[in-house]
Amino acid sequence: MSKTKILAIETSCDETSAAVVEDGERVLSNVVASQIKSHQRFGGVVPEIASRHHVEQITFIVQEAMEEAGVTYEELDAVAVTEGPGLVGALLIGVSTAKAIAFAHGLPLIPVNHIAGHIYANRLIQPLQFPLMALVVSGGHTELVYMEEDGNFEVIGETRDDAAGEAYDKIGRVLGVPYPGGKHIDEMAHQGEDTFDFPRAMIQEDNYDFSFSGVKSSFINTVHNANQKGETLDQYDLAASFQASVVDVLVDKTVRAVKEKQVKQLLLAGGVAANKGLRTALKHAVETELDGVELVIPPLSLCGDNAAMIGAAAHVEYKKGHKADYSLNARPGLSL
Ligand code: KG4
Ligand code: ZN
Repeated sequence: MSKTKILAIETSCDETSAAVVEDGERVLSNVVASQIKSHQRFGGVVPEIASRHHVEQITFIVQEAMEEAGVTYEELDAVAVTEGPGLVGALLIGVSTAKAIAFAHGLPLIPVNHIAGHIYANRLIQPLQFPLMALVVSGGHTELVYMEEDGNFEVIGETRDDAAGEAYDKIGRVLGVPYPGGKHIDEMAHQGEDTFDFPRAMIQEDNYDFSFSGVKSSFINTVHNANQKGETLDQYDLAASFQASVVDVLVDKTVRAVKEKQVKQLLLAGGVAANKGLRTALKHAVETELDGVELVIPPLSLCGDNAAMIGAAAHVEYKKGHKADYSLNARPGLSL
């Protein structure tokens, strides 16, 4: 039987991306154009600017993805696109492009949830084994997702306030590192020590929810108080202390969830999955506390937003025959 080839499009935030993925597990191409430079001077993503960049880039990015994969439109089996969650204007560019391609070439149109995409990025590394647990940590989401089988998502815990990546980016602003701050704070953390002992919110509570606004406020207050007294604090120790608090809570709750649900695999997903401290701590926790559980962590290229992960998630929907008609719309607040 010939292999299923899906062209996938992702434009939910500030990366314009197109990919061709075979059977949901092999990346034939994955082109990602980042707009970060255009947003940096504003200290965050400006939705209007994001939409404009997507419109300018999308045709070229799709063309490049098709050329790199070496496939023609006739060889494609479907077109997949992120329908949400994300910025409405940004999502609409991807959705309109996917609709146009589906219509022009008579291909099925498959809507994909962005978070499902992050989880399925792991399928590009390793076959998934169910039941599994996924820790999704990105700029907009922090969730523990239990999966009994392909395409079945049960959110067992989530953040009550800031997402992990969002907290990183906010404290990054206080330390004066460029947006998005996560990567810079991670690098600084490795050159400092956890000396500030920031709070580990909700770590003792008997649930799988998270809260990162407490550690963020504690961090900001510590820096402001020192500034008012004319003191200078060690930036590397501040970063290390913040990271230790975030990683401790994420790892602790994840280990508890994995133990309770007795899963076969633990997947790490989302932009914050690139965090070196988190990757190391999770590996250590699985080795020492979770006997028999396989940990899957995507390479850095598949942690941040990209279309290959959308193609991987779309394959599950394709097999189930789930497809959309041309009335498909962007769904900015879509949940799993
Ligand atoms: O998944 P993603 O690309 O976009 C969303 O769907 O939100 O995640 C972006 C987030 C940003 O908040 C960024 O600061 C964070 O991922 N991030 C990191 C690291 N690399 C990216 N956070 C901590 N450590 C990193 N190494
Ligand atoms: Zn994302």
